[in-house]
Amino acid sequence: MTDAATYRARRARLAEAMGGRPLLLRGHNVLPRNFALNAYPFRQDSTFLYFLGVDAPNASAVIAADGATTLYLPEPHADDPLWHGEVPPPGEVGALAGVDSVANAEALDGSGCLTLAVADPTVGLAGAVDSSDLTQAVVRLRLTRDADEIAQMEAALAVTAEAHVAAMGATHPGVTDTAVQAIIEAVFKVHGMGLAYPSIVTARGEVLHGHASGTPLVDGDLLLVDAGAETPGGYASDITRTWPVSGTFDGRQRAAYEAVLEAQTAAIELVRPGVRYREVHLQSARVLAAALVELGLLHGDVDGLVEQGAHAVFFPHGVGHLIGLDVHDMELYGDIGYPAGRERSDQFGLGFLRLDCDLEDGMVVTVEPGFYVVPAILQDASLRERFGDSVDWAAAEGWLGFGGIRIEDDVLATASGPRVLGPGIPRTVAEVEALVGIGPNPRQRLLPNR
Ligand code: GLY
Ligand code: MN
Ligand code: MN
Repeated sequence: MTDAATYRARRARLAEAMGGRPLLLRGHNVLPRNFALNAYPFRQDSTFLYFLGVDAPNASAVIAADGATTLYLPEPHADDPLWHGEVPPPGEVGALAGVDSVANAEALDGSGCLTLAVADPTVGLAGAVDSSDLTQAVVRLRLTRDADEIAQMEAALAVTAEAHVAAMGATHPGVTDTAVQAIIEAVFKVHGMGLAYPSIVTARGEVLHGHASGTPLVDGDLLLVDAGAETPGGYASDITRTWPVSGTFDGRQRAAYEAVLEAQTAAIELVRPGVRYREVHLQSARVLAAALVELGLLHGDVDGLVEQGAHAVFFPHGVGHLIGLDVHDMELYGDIGYPAGRERSDQFGLGFLRLDCDLEDGMVVTVEPGFYVVPAILQDASLRERFGDSVDWAAAEGWLGFGGIRIEDDVLATASGPRVLGPGIPRTVAEVEALVGIGPNPRQRLLPNR
């Protein structure tokens, strides 16, 4: 739990960085799902959580030049206690946030305030001025994590670890992908945590952000699980593991898995202050490309293949992103992973790299290389022409139906080196094989009498 003094210190730093004009921060509103009484689950704006920790809908705050803060809360409706339970007294909410005063939302006047420039029109307020300087200042403060934030991320990762281990145990031929997803999300809920993002649980891992569809898993499939818990305070975790439904990797699966693991291990080693994140990406690409040459899927010199981008035929995404209060942290503010002077590449694959800053002590990034056999890529005439003989297209076609492998961890850059956060989630071939299928079938577990 973040304490009031920490919120005050964060607001003071923001006020100092902006020097002068009052700053308006707005929380999220409730979003109706077709009609008002049936709302989407409420999730507070992450910047609002960072500076105030207030999880109530329709809240706002004005921060004065000296950091003094007024929190604006909506007047509860007289019927709220009946339908939603007692509303905590405003003074109590304000004390937890360490604000100087609490006022009714009706009294909020944005005149002269600077506010964040975001795409969501529901957060605008007459009189307030969108400020990209404020956005930059917020991004700057949220780029690195303090010890309290790291502790929260590790708490999420402990639960995520438990969920992945339970999911490995629950995997048997015939079990559906949605049933495995149910086990994962039940573990999150048992611990009082939510989802940092919609879970990806699928034997069609080559669909990068695909989702479970109720499909029974088949002996011979690889199951890709990308799922992470979120703490009640809003901190994310983002973990991917891939395992064989049968409990044993076949020769080809094992070779590809070892290649991705080697690429991930080499990339994690570079997560250190001062290293350009693009180098982390390229390192994983080089290690993977070397393995793909061995497997006969690529031909040529490894550095040349990576420079040309040929590895992206099998690893078409970036190696990761910032993570914190959002799983892709602060992406609502635009391409914040690219500092001034660094442009996104337009090269196939590299163009999907979300982060290209120099890493700093206290940044947390994901490292998530993958290997995918994507029919749409193998059939793409322009890619075939571009990469020509660098890719063994005929050999690649022999892998159609393989699916995908991704291995993802969350890594803190520190002066003394990379620190993989969390309790150590089974990752090697031997660790994974020892766990798959050792638990009950999800139906037996959830519906024991049927
Ligand atoms: N879970 C989405 C991602 O890994 O970026
Ligand atoms: Mn990720
Ligand atoms: Mn992920």
